[in-house]
Amino acid sequence: MQQFAIRHHSFGDPSEVLKLETIDQPEPKAGEVRVRLEAAAVNPSDYGMIGGSYGRLRELPAVAGREGVGTVDALGAGVDSVSVGTRVRFPGEDGAWQVSACVDASELLIVPPEVPVEQAAISFINPPTAYCLLKKMVDLQPGDWILQNAGNSAVGLSVIQMAKAFGLKTISQVRREELIAPLEAMGADHVVMEGTGWAKGVSEITRGAPIRLALNSIGGESATDQIKALSDGGTQVTFGGMVGDKVRFPTRFLIFNDVRMVGFWWDRYARRLGHDGVREVMQAVFAMMADGTLSLPIESQYPFSEYGLAIKHANQPRLGKVLLVP
Ligand SMILES: NC(=O)c1ccc[n+]([C@@H]2O[C@H](COP(=O)([O-])OP(=O)(O)OC[C@H]3O[C@@H](n4cnc5c(N)ncnc54)[C@H](OP(=O)(O)O)[C@@H]3O)[C@@H](O)[C@H]2O)c1
Repeated sequence: MQQFAIRHHSFGDPSEVLKLETIDQPEPKAGEVRVRLEAAAVNPSDYGMIGGSYGRLRELPAVAGREGVGTVDALGAGVDSVSVGTRVRFPGEDGAWQVSACVDASELLIVPPEVPVEQAAISFINPPTAYCLLKKMVDLQPGDWILQNAGNSAVGLSVIQMAKAFGLKTISQVRREELIAPLEAMGADHVVMEGTGWAKGVSEITRGAPIRLALNSIGGESATDQIKALSDGGTQVTFGGMVGDKVRFPTRFLIFNDVRMVGFWWDRYARRLGHDGVREVMQAVFAMMADGTLSLPIESQYPFSEYGLAIKHANQPRLGKVLLVP
């Protein structure tokens, strides 16, 4: 049997190197299951992996995509821990933009049936990142303020909704005015426009309360504004660099304000946590998705045959994820 897969044979611009190809459908070996994709996400890190600049690359030729959800559709010999039809994470290591893939049954991440399928498809990278950024980097207490840029990104919207649930207050930077109302409707406490000098008046926003954590996935001026807005001893966590520029750190804030700068990478963090640790984080994410505490918008869905349009769409200003469906 043959199946479709979106693959690349060299690293480069996704619009040039990706191809929709037919490959052999894998058969599960003893101890494995085959998972059939329901929906996969298009994420910024996919471009890094296809382009060759990401922290971890696949051997070529490679199936693209890192995140998706599917159902078990075949069991290898000796597998009795799951049944056909169980919804699980689509195995990300082999590439998520293919119709089916095999995985060791012991490594399956089972998705509770209460989690809507579109939410499940985008649950495995950005929500756990947001969760760990809020829970594991700085010891925050209810009522504390935090700051983030890319407030309308999937991480940003997860931060807004989770922070609300944890009793934290958020200031979210965005670069388009039309985002302010929808973000506030999703629970944002305060939304500021990038490049408006908002950092100078930040104590009016927080009424003098300190800001101990800033989350930076953009870089450039918006990251510098965060450092200016952070309180003495505050921490800026950089986990993305959408402007593609070096992160600059004004020296005086390092010395006189004792501001700290650290990085975060979910892939590395998840490896450190191990399967049980990741499952624990994902149980928290799934619980919030199941009861509606966390609900991320979907901008659009495209069939595999229109992957080019999907990538183009994902690169445009939007509020929500673009999904690929086989
Ligand atoms: N380190 C980790 O473990 C980790 C994990 C997850 C995500 N990330 C990173 O977190 C970031 C967000 O990921 P996501 O999937 O949540 O994003 P997303 O939903 O695809 O949204 C992309 C965001 O980036 C903004 N953006 C793009 N180019 C920009 C620019 N030049 N200047 C300012 N803003 C820009 C977009 O704003 P507009 O809508 O205005 O274009 C939007 O807010 C990415 O950098 C991703 O790689 C890192």
